[in-house]
Amino acid sequence: MSQALEVETDRGRTYSVVVGERAVDRLGRELPDPCAAVALVTDSNLARLHRDRVIDALGAGRTVSAFEFPAGEQHKTRRTKERIEDAMLGEGFGRDCTVVALGGGVTTDIAGFVASTYMRGVPWIALPTSLLAAVDASVGGKTGVDTDLGKNLIGAFHQPRAVLIDLELMQTLPGPEVDNGLTEMLKHAVIADASYLRSLVNEADRLRSLDPAVLEIAIARSIEIKGEVVAADTEERDYRQVLNLGHTIGHAIELVSRYRVSHGGAVAAGLAVECEIAARLGLMPGSARKEVVAALERLGLPVAPPAGTDPGELLQATKRDKKGRAGRPRYALPAGIGEMARGERGFAREVPDDVVLSALEEA
Ligand SMILES: NC(=O)c1ccc[n+]([C@@H]2O[C@H](COP(=O)([O-])OP(=O)(O)OC[C@H]3O[C@@H](n4cnc5c(N)ncnc54)[C@H](O)[C@@H]3O)[C@@H](O)[C@H]2O)c1
Ligand SMILES: [Zn+2]
Repeated sequence: MSQALEVETDRGRTYSVVVGERAVDRLGRELPDPCAAVALVTDSNLARLHRDRVIDALGAGRTVSAFEFPAGEQHKTRRTKERIEDAMLGEGFGRDCTVVALGGGVTTDIAGFVASTYMRGVPWIALPTSLLAAVDASVGGKTGVDTDLGKNLIGAFHQPRAVLIDLELMQTLPGPEVDNGLTEMLKHAVIADASYLRSLVNEADRLRSLDPAVLEIAIARSIEIKGEVVAADTEERDYRQVLNLGHTIGHAIELVSRYRVSHGGAVAAGLAVECEIAARLGLMPGSARKEVVAALERLGLPVAPPAGTDPGELLQATKRDKKGRAGRPRYALPAGIGEMARGERGFAREVPDDVVLSALEEA
C-alpha cells in the first residue's frame, strides 16, 4: 500500500510525493536520466540507521557517495553547507549529479540548499524521515540554513524532483520527535479540514505508535493541505500566512523557555491560546475552541505554556517575532475548525495586548 500525490509548485509545475512502507524502493526510478552520480546527504543518526538501505535502493550503475554531518539544529549552518560542497567538489561531482537528502527537516533544508547552488543548481530528491519533515519541511520548496542572528535567514526556493516518504525508515523516530509532526498535522486540520481533525482524534493511538496504514493516509492529507495553501498563495497574496497558526504564541514560548520547550510542544500550546484569542474576538465559536483543545489532549500534546511561565513575558516575546512588522505581532486566527478568518490585510491581524494577555492568563 502507498499513497501517491502530485504537489503543485509556484510555477505551475508539479512533483510527485509517494508515502508508503517501501517508498524508498522507487528512488532509482525517480532519478533524472542521465544521472552520473548521487550525493547522499544525511545526518549522523540516519547514517547509522538507514544509509545502507538507501544505497541498496539506488542500485548499481552510478557513483554514490554519502556526505554526513552531525545531527542537530546547531549544525544547520553555512559552515556545514560549505563542508558538504567542498567534499562534493573534492570527489569530482559535476552538473550531472543529483542530491538525495535522507533525514529530518534539518537535513532536507541543508541538502536542498546545497542542491540549489551547487554548480548553479542541480536536482534533488527528499527522503524525509521525521514526521515533521514529511508533513511540513518537504512541501513548499523552502531550503536554507540558520545564522547566529536567527533561523532560516539564508536560503533559497528550490523544489525537489520527488519526495519519497518511507514509513519503514520512520519507525525509528524517537517519541518526542513524533509530537513535533503531530502538532503541525493538527494545525493543518484546523486550517482546512474538520473531518481530518476528527480522524486524527479517532486514530490518536495508532498515529502515536507510527502505524503505517494510518500514518500513510494522514501524512498524505497534511501534504495536500499544505500544498494547496502554498499553491493558492500565488494568486491570493498572503494566504500562506495561515500556516503561521499557533506559531506567534508558539515562538514566544520557545523564546521564553530558551528553547527548552520543543517546537511542537510550543506550537501545540500556541494553537490552544490562539484559539482562545479567536474565541475572545468573536471569530471562532467557543465550542470549536473546546474541540481543538480536546484534540490536542487526545494526541498527548500540551494545551498551555509550561507552568510558571509569566504571561507578561510571553506577550513581550511575541513582539520580537520576526513575522511581526516593527514590533507589532500578527496572528493568523481560525474562524472555526477547517476555516481561517480573514484579517484586515490578508489572513493575519494585530490583536490588542489585553486580549492576548487574558487568553494567556486563561490558559
Ligand atoms: N523548509 C521548510 O519549509 C521547513 C518547514 C518546517 C520546518 N523546517 C525545518 O525543519 C527542521 C526541523 O525538522 P526536524 O524536526 O525533522 O529536525 P531534525 O532534522 O533535526 O530531526 C530531529 C531529530 O530526529 C532524528 N531523526 C529524524 N528521522 C529519524 C528517524 N527516522 N529515526 C531516528 N532518528 C531520526 C534526527 O537525526 C534529529 O536528531 C528545522 O530546522 C526547521 O527550520 C523547514
Ligand atoms: Zn512549525
